[in-house]
Amino acid sequence: MIFEGLMTTMSQTGAVNVAPMGPIVRGDFDSLLLRPFEGSTTFDNLSASRHGVFHVVDQVDVIAEAAIRRLRQTPATVPAQMIEGAVLEDCCRWFELEVTRVDTSQPRSEMEARVLHRGERRPFQGFNRARHAVIEAAILATRLHLIPREDVEAQYRVLASAVEKTGGQRERDAFGMLNEFVKQHQGAAS
Ligand SMILES: Cc1cc2nc3c(=O)[nH]c(=O)nc-3n(C[C@H](O)[C@H](O)[C@H](O)COP(=O)(O)O)c2cc1C
Repeated sequence: MIFEGLMTTMSQTGAVNVAPMGPIVRGDFDSLLLRPFEGSTTFDNLSASRHGVFHVVDQVDVIAEAAIRRLRQTPATVPAQMIEGAVLEDCCRWFELEVTRVDTSQPRSEMEARVLHRGERRPFQGFNRARHAVIEAAILATRLHLIPREDVEAQYRVLASAVEKTGGQRERDAFGMLNEFVKQHQGAAS
């Protein structure tokens, strides 16, 4: 299955990068297949260091902000235990990873990763339609160059309804920011 979450990686100078990522997860996170696009900071950092931390989260505002590179500030982290890496203070579960195989024959690379250490910070809060809608909206926002404008607009209209009906302020703000980003992008493109 693919699980959407947040990946932290470190540059060679120790700068922490946070990005949403959807790895293919085998078993109960026995191993992960990461698929970062070449050109992303995650790809560069993982290629160089071969280490990163994948997080299962239940808040979606950092996913939304990082997807469109509008993180107001790097979220608070604590040092990873088995690798030189950063664990998000606000996460449900984390997995410290070592990349064991890299395939760059496709633009979306494949990086096989084994779990060196795992931990839990707090329980998953539960399913919420608005949060899922924000995740879908964030994915769409990173693919505007691939999806026809009318399709994006139609999907945003559906997602907006779930956010209005079931979200709290954080979800409404995150969705509003993504909506604004999409409008700006489409305004610039027309
Ligand atoms: C939920 C979600 C999952 C994503 N999964 C991936 C992925 O598996 N691979 C990828 O290259 N980009 C993925 N993206 C897009 C990246 O997060 C986005 O391009 C980001 O800007 C990359 O940041 P970076 O350059 O800091 O690594 C995903 C985005 C979202 C919202």
